[in-house]
Amino acid sequence: MAKRWDRALVTGASSGIGEAIARRLAGEGTDLVLVARSEDRLVALAGELSTAHGVSVEVLAADLADMGQLAEIEQRVAEREAAVDLLVNNAGFGISGDFAGHLVEDVEGEILVNVLALARLCHAALGRMVDEGRGAILNVSSTASFQPMPGSAGYASTKAYVTSLSQALHEEVLGAGVAVTALCPGLTRTEFQQRGGFVIEVPGLLWQRADDVARAGLDGVAANHAVVIPGVHNAATAHVVRLLPLGVARRVAAVVGRRLG
Ligand SMILES: NC(=O)c1ccc[n+]([C@@H]2O[C@H](COP(=O)([O-])OP(=O)(O)OC[C@H]3O[C@@H](n4cnc5c(N)ncnc54)[C@H](OP(=O)(O)O)[C@@H]3O)[C@@H](O)[C@H]2O)c1
Repeated sequence: MAKRWDRALVTGASSGIGEAIARRLAGEGTDLVLVARSEDRLVALAGELSTAHGVSVEVLAADLADMGQLAEIEQRVAEREAAVDLLVNNAGFGISGDFAGHLVEDVEGEILVNVLALARLCHAALGRMVDEGRGAILNVSSTASFQPMPGSAGYASTKAYVTSLSQALHEEVLGAGVAVTALCPGLTRTEFQQRGGFVIEVPGLLWQRADDVARAGLDGVAANHAVVIPGVHNAATAHVVRLLPLGVARRVAAVVGRRLG
């Protein structure tokens, strides 16, 4: 695959979908800036990708829930020297279970990482990209963004924000040479479920590989699609949800959510 971007900053590049996106971009010859908390994992990945593909890889270890550390990443995104022409806002997490039972710090953490950090990084990138007349943002949302999800209420509502913001920004910068895309995966085999305490027993064919999700997202943002839903089953479910009355979609999500949580 030919190189589509000069330099991409990928948040949450230490595992799962973000790591798969970083691997694909390096394979295309794109220089990288890798962001996550796990510095050791990022350094190992950077060494592997620069050796295998001859790309330059910066590592910026940061906790995106920490406003001071987030500000440093915003600064890097806004820089005009060695500019980032693709921003991938992928870092995120969810917690399973009833909202009232969560630690309030976890409720806040979901909002800080999934919403606030993503919004601030979009803001840091967009002004410069519109000025330069080029660039793109790929925001990793979820099929959980399409309906309320009792059992992961906080998580689904953070992702509703991501899908809504991305679509609105897509329209705002249409014609300015800048692409904004929401990538909405369904169940994907990564560390996400274990980290969030989700116990999900559904047939294997409903799960996707992180690399397939990464490919769909990167092709989607290169084509400036507003929303990308990888997997026919996920796209079909999202379509059906749109056709249902709100109350029915909510009840179905409540029943399914209880089975998955
Ligand atoms: N897997 C699924 O089924 C699924 C479905 C739909 C959407 N998604 C979305 O896909 C995205 C990637 O998740 P994944 O499935 O690849 O899960 P994952 O394997 O757990 O990866 C999550 C990534 O986010 C980073 N991260 C989490 N909290 C962070 C923080 N405070 N600061 C900086 N980085 C942080 C993690 O790195 P460190 O721990 O090193 O910081 C890790 O690199 C998320 O936005 C998730 O909501 C996943």
